Amino acid sequence: MHMGRANSNSGSETPKIQADGSSSSSVIKSPLQLVIGCKVFVEKDGEIRQAEILSIRNAQQRSRVQHTSEESRPTLDNVDEEKQVFEFYVHYVEFNKRLDEWITDSRLNLSKPVEFPKSKKIKTGAGPGGAATPTPNRLQKRKQSQRRDASLSRAGTPSRADSPAPTETTIQHDDSAYTAPRQGSNGYSKEKEIEKLRTQGSMTQCTSEVARMKNLNLIYMGEFEVEPWYFSPYPAELTNSPVLYICEFCLAYFGSKKQIERHRQRYCDLLYPPGNEIYRKDEISFFEIDGRRQKSYCRNLCLLSKCFLDHKTLYYDVDPFLFYILTKNDDHGCHIIGYFSKEKESAENYNLACILTLPQYQRHGYGRLLMQFSYELSKIEGRLGSPEKPLSDLGLLGYRAFWSEAIVDLLVDYHGEISIEELSKMTSFTTQDILHALSSLDGIRYYKGRHAIVLSEAVLEAYKRSKAKKRRSIDPKYLKWAPPIFTQAELRYI
Ligand code: ACO
Ligand code: ZN
Repeated sequence: MHMGRANSNSGSETPKIQADGSSSSSVIKSPLQLVIGCKVFVEKDGEIRQAEILSIRNAQQRSRVQHTSEESRPTLDNVDEEKQVFEFYVHYVEFNKRLDEWITDSRLNLSKPVEFPKSKKIKTGAGPGGAATPTPNRLQKRKQSQRRDASLSRAGTPSRADSPAPTETTIQHDDSAYTAPRQGSNGYSKEKEIEKLRTQGSMTQCTSEVARMKNLNLIYMGEFEVEPWYFSPYPAELTNSPVLYICEFCLAYFGSKKQIERHRQRYCDLLYPPGNEIYRKDEISFFEIDGRRQKSYCRNLCLLSKCFLDHKTLYYDVDPFLFYILTKNDDHGCHIIGYFSKEKESAENYNLACILTLPQYQRHGYGRLLMQFSYELSKIEGRLGSPEKPLSDLGLLGYRAFWSEAIVDLLVDYHGEISIEELSKMTSFTTQDILHALSSLDGIRYYKGRHAIVLSEAVLEAYKRSKAKKRRSIDPKYLKWAPPIFTQAELRYI
């Protein structure tokens, strides 16, 4: 897109803000009139979607960042202003933030009205419409909250509207206790968050304090090339590199291939995560790592994890956590597939704080394996467990699939009566999670004066199809673990 810079005499006027400060909508003639905060219609995968503009950049600026060594590339100083090319970083309204992206003006649909932001959100500075480009925050102090991922992805995502309509004979299926509160809810209290962070180490997110834009282009890790989904507070000088190189064993990060090769040749001979291997069967292992003892590894893991987990994570305060790393092993080492973290002491009896399957391994049953492992630990502890809330959209899908399958697995071969409490004892799932899973299957009916669990033909069919996939599962015989015991001094973190 070629356009002149927007300024007072460019002829492109920003529509007026209403006197009451509310947003205004109008059809505009030129993308030059767009400012940060505008909601505009954009073509996405053949459909027109409303999207909010989070940033505007000059494409020459980008090429300068990515090609610093090539002198022939244009720089802002030598570019003809009339030929500046602008790009827009957009967030699709009501879609998960991981779909956010840079687009050119060819994807803007300006025949539909543009919603302009409230007056206080309009910023001045460079770029079309005079809007300043926000820069992502650097690594924050550990007590700083991060933005929650308010919008759930739509594709395949559970929403209240998708849930079975509640009737007198079904228990209402309510996700609100499970997922992050929607953007704009006013339940946020900074004090509460900080206290929660201090005591639990993970964060729900505050919209006002967060970098909303992805800051990394691409990650190379082992043999994989991965596109990050969300902002992660890696050092700013590295986020300017086209690629971030991550050592797949110690998770240290580098801005160039040369640096990571040097790291592997001279400084890092690690071939597995730096902890105790507590499970090994076939080519799968689990390693337990104490955040207090392996701070650097665990912080690196949290930084990596933040690229794919937006609604909560911790970066710095890793001491109160144990990390369970799932690896796939071959002659070249134990390669990380995913992990979950767990508080050493959880006031709410959570058995898992954060869970991640690296994107290159997702949808292969590893999420289920991690979840199952967390419950096997709970069984050894003699406790019920539940993942820390809120869950992300994928977390909710994953847990619901896992809980439902495990419950149906028990019920199909069960004869006689069984209570929710008995199911809970057998699985280590909380009764609340069991009820949630059964409700999602529309599996609780009121029949002849009592509640009954009913598995419909459709549920049984889906169960059979899922079982036919023959996924790996944890074999408790191979788990060599006793709950670690910490002294009061070891549990004092601040
Ligand atoms: N769309 C629809 N359904 C999905 C999707 C998806 N993208 N991903 C998982 N599911 C459901 C499916 O039912 C799937 O079963 P199927 O593949 O047989 O259809 C089931 O979840 C489990 O799939 P797995 O392959 O076992 O899980 P995976 O390895 O993909 O890991 C996880 C799931 C951990 C949630 C992963 O998506 C992830 O790491 N996401 C990013 C981080 C995140 O959001 N973590 C959860 C945060 S909540 C918390 O930490 C407490
Ligand atoms: Zn290394």
